[in-house]
Amino acid sequence: MTNNKMISIAKKRGYLYPSFEIYSGVAGFYDYGPLGSMLKNNILNLWRQYYTVQEGYYEIESPTVMPKEALKASGHVDNFTDPMTQCHDCQQVYRADHIIGEAINKEVEGLPDSKLTEIIAENNITCTECGGKLEDVYSYNLMFKTKIGANGKKIGYMRPETAQGIFIAFKRLARFYKDKLPFGVVQIGKAYRNELSPRQGMIRLREFTLAETEIFVDPTDKTTPKFDSIKNEKIKLFSQQLQEENKEAEYFTVKEALEQNIVPSEILAYQIYLAKTFLTEIGLPENKFRFRQNLPDERAHYALDCWDGEVETDEYGWIEILGIADRTDYDLSSHIKDSKEDLTIFKEYDTVKTVTKTVPIINNKNFGRTLKKDSTEAKEIIENTNPETIINSIKENGSYIITIGNNNYDIDETLITFETKKIEEKGEKVVPHVIEPSFGVDRIVYSLLLHSYTEDENEDKETRKYLRITPQIAPVKAVILPLVNKEELTTIAKDIEFETRKNNLITMYDVSGTIGRRYARSDEIGVPYAITIDYDSLEDKKVTIRSRDTLKQKRIFITEISKVLTDLLNNNIKFEEITE
Ligand code: ATP
Ligand code: GLY
Repeated sequence: MTNNKMISIAKKRGYLYPSFEIYSGVAGFYDYGPLGSMLKNNILNLWRQYYTVQEGYYEIESPTVMPKEALKASGHVDNFTDPMTQCHDCQQVYRADHIIGEAINKEVEGLPDSKLTEIIAENNITCTECGGKLEDVYSYNLMFKTKIGANGKKIGYMRPETAQGIFIAFKRLARFYKDKLPFGVVQIGKAYRNELSPRQGMIRLREFTLAETEIFVDPTDKTTPKFDSIKNEKIKLFSQQLQEENKEAEYFTVKEALEQNIVPSEILAYQIYLAKTFLTEIGLPENKFRFRQNLPDERAHYALDCWDGEVETDEYGWIEILGIADRTDYDLSSHIKDSKEDLTIFKEYDTVKTVTKTVPIINNKNFGRTLKKDSTEAKEIIENTNPETIINSIKENGSYIITIGNNNYDIDETLITFETKKIEEKGEKVVPHVIEPSFGVDRIVYSLLLHSYTEDENEDKETRKYLRITPQIAPVKAVILPLVNKEELTTIAKDIEFETRKNNLITMYDVSGTIGRRYARSDEIGVPYAITIDYDSLEDKKVTIRSRDTLKQKRIFITEISKVLTDLLNNNIKFEEITE
């Protein structure tokens, strides 16, 4: 359906509104209204059913403000940038790759800034607002910068992804999981990106919600025991090859995707399947989404392979709503380097290995006398250096030089000798690899509303507009309607509202306007069931329950309402199966 119709209903009926409206608004920010908040929470609760309950990945919550050191290590301070160009005359800013793409209809994402500057000049691309000259392209960092504390010396950033909070807490999380791979950790929360010129409403927000899972795996074992049970399921893939051949996305079984080397590992393939199942369960039509492999120059700085879950839209074409990436050991290794912490897992071998090793024998007395307070650090350096390097240096130069602070120490044979030994090894330290499904929750809400919006024509050629949101995640489960505003009917209706809410069902009482108008209003906000109380209800103690999607009606006892609604919502019965 169309973006404009959906957004207009979403604004009018309490789903979504542009933020800060009374102060003229700020692009890139959206409020969730009363129904929008409930819809988002219901989606997230179902998401937790998948990732936290079924997959067993516990959830954590870490701060949204992060110190610069952490984001320097992760690569975001240096690499989390978009290429920007600005109009010399009117100062309008543009994403260079976007304005080029629109002007010459060519994909240029990932090219260096200097190349983009060249393309702008060669093709005479100018400001679309005023025709002015575009200045040289430069890398603009998307993170919101802030200061931590009163003296302003500690620089912080609003986190651009929730994943880093998980990597930084890795040591404690590994202990929680008894230091055994694989294990996964989930975080749901806000992320912040100071997008250049967010003109795409809900699609490009400056503050948005991510639901991310980081699955830590053995780098040499990216299999999963779950693979066997899903290997014949189908997933719709738009591989690098299909894109390069200008073809459409195709269905593959999970097994074919793996055997044909389209997807590199069982875990990644399983995660694509899981995401597909989730998107289908929340009600996204399967013909409206696909998984597209990122082309090499589109990938984030940390990703080895990445598949974007994409949804088709009328206004913005195919949009990315989630990404599933193999981040390898990029993040943990970067944090090991900068924090000097041991973020490894000890992987035990199945059988003990006997290996021949050359090991350093340190003459502690001489060592202490020569290196004094630097002894401990020097020993650590020796332990972490390949013995061959030290042996060769001593052989060729008489010593191996270690630098600590401003001091250079000559390590020679009076301080260290080497011995070749047979050693029994029980295992080894490994830096885990990370598989990451990362869901952009706001884009999912947007796509779902877009594809739920339906217009049907009835026999009288009247258009009925409704949101076909699956009952399980619809914000309001039933609307309670007294046929007319008369006390004998409204009392029963209010009692029903009270009783259903007591049974954990969000229902909405509505008495204003004609019954037709009220049906239309509740259809428009996607309420799946309507309960109508009429004069017969006084006699037979029954009400009419109506299905939003089929318009079918059934009469049920008032005392049965909560049970029937709960059964419908739990998929225990279908509407047609309700016994009257
Ligand atoms: P895009 O190419 O659209 O900027 P991205 O590749 O930067 O997206 P990721 O870094 O992979 O996106 O972020 C993970 C998910 O977060 C995306 O799949 C998307 O759903 C969501 N996301 C990213 N940026 C935004 C944004 N500005 N507003 C809303 N959601 C976003
Ligand atoms: N954590 C994935 C991303 O933000 O891109």
